Amino acid sequence: MEEAKGLKGVVAGRTRVSTVGKGVGFRYFGYAVKELAEHCSFEQVAYLLLYRDLPSQEQLRDFQRKVAGFRDLPPALKQVLERLPRDSNPVDVMRTGCSALGTLEPEPGHKPEDMAIRLLGSFSSILLYWHHFVISSKRISCVTAPEDSVALHFLKLLTLSPNHDPLVVKALDVSLILYAEHEFSSSTYVARMAASTLSDFYSCMTAAIGTLRGPLHGGANEGAMKMLEGFKSPSDALEKVELMRKRKQLFMGFGHRIYKGADPRAAIIKDYAKQLTSKPFGNRKLFTIAEAMEGYLLKEAGISANMDLYVAVAYRQCGIPAAFFPCLFVIARTPGWTAHISEQRGDNKLIKPLLRYNGPGPRDVSARAKL
Ligand code: COA
Repeated sequence: MEEAKGLKGVVAGRTRVSTVGKGVGFRYFGYAVKELAEHCSFEQVAYLLLYRDLPSQEQLRDFQRKVAGFRDLPPALKQVLERLPRDSNPVDVMRTGCSALGTLEPEPGHKPEDMAIRLLGSFSSILLYWHHFVISSKRISCVTAPEDSVALHFLKLLTLSPNHDPLVVKALDVSLILYAEHEFSSSTYVARMAASTLSDFYSCMTAAIGTLRGPLHGGANEGAMKMLEGFKSPSDALEKVELMRKRKQLFMGFGHRIYKGADPRAAIIKDYAKQLTSKPFGNRKLFTIAEAMEGYLLKEAGISANMDLYVAVAYRQCGIPAAFFPCLFVIARTPGWTAHISEQRGDNKLIKPLLRYNGPGPRDVSARAKL
């Protein structure tokens, strides 16, 4: 049997949740993601992924009310967060918060959609309650107006300020829609693999968060920001990129397992990153550096920018610290992971591929034990 390193090109099941880069293009339950990003909010898209269709106005209001109802955290969870070190990786904080919720409110008696709503309400609060506590010993209130979107709730807790530029809120909201689902991404694979063992919802989610954290997956937006920060200007970037190519270094925010041409999400978020440059707090230089890199690497190496490059440019202009970039990805992917966990449970077969053995030949324990 042929080995497929990295399971590249292996079809390991079926899904109704999304199509990615093939046939009918990038769609969630049949809806084009480009149109969802144009006309819908993240909450509508989250509802679509959890309930397999877009909500009516009344269903949406009810959904938003339920999400907002979970923003205040249980006291025991706050105590756990207060004990985490100041220098914790922020994704680890979210992973720990998710895992702790699994012990405080175990799955039996809760539907996956309800637990996803719980996490959608709580994730920003988990991260930002911890953040303010470790930097200033403040125990912030995590309650915001019930009509506030997930994006606005995040920004309000981050800055502890009620006012945010509508373009910042919109850019964040669109990024969440684009991050919400992507077929068999590495973290989704892990979530489905855990679900296939009949494990509980919170274990599946915790495993997925740990997988997303890696720089080749959800950590790439943070990695792209760190890389861009190392360049003083577009010309400085191109000089350094040349050297990096010679050293065969990886460019964060570039390349993709599925998209060998353009990542359809990149153009959408790039447009918001560009619009943000016209704001007084915008950063045109950062945008031009990213654009120069994009053009150069496409021409010279045939490698396209993926969405994480311009997410980094957009998030930086929204005032979000780079270490929190992957955390927004975790929040966004929660409904996508949930859809896959439910789908896996609905037609389960244990996911268990094989490994070809290439270790030592048979060895004699008794000969070694005498030494
Ligand atoms: N920087 C430098 N070279 C890259 C690259 C990048 N970002 N992405 C791909 N390449 C190179 C590979 O090294 C490989 O070169 P080789 O043939 O000489 O070995 C070639 O392009 C083909 O790569 P491929 O096998 O198609 O990539 P993959 O499917 O195994 O990897 C990623 C996909 C995402 C892991 C890879 O592109 C990457 O590491 N990107 C950076 C991290 C990132 O942005 N992740 C977020 C993805 S949405």
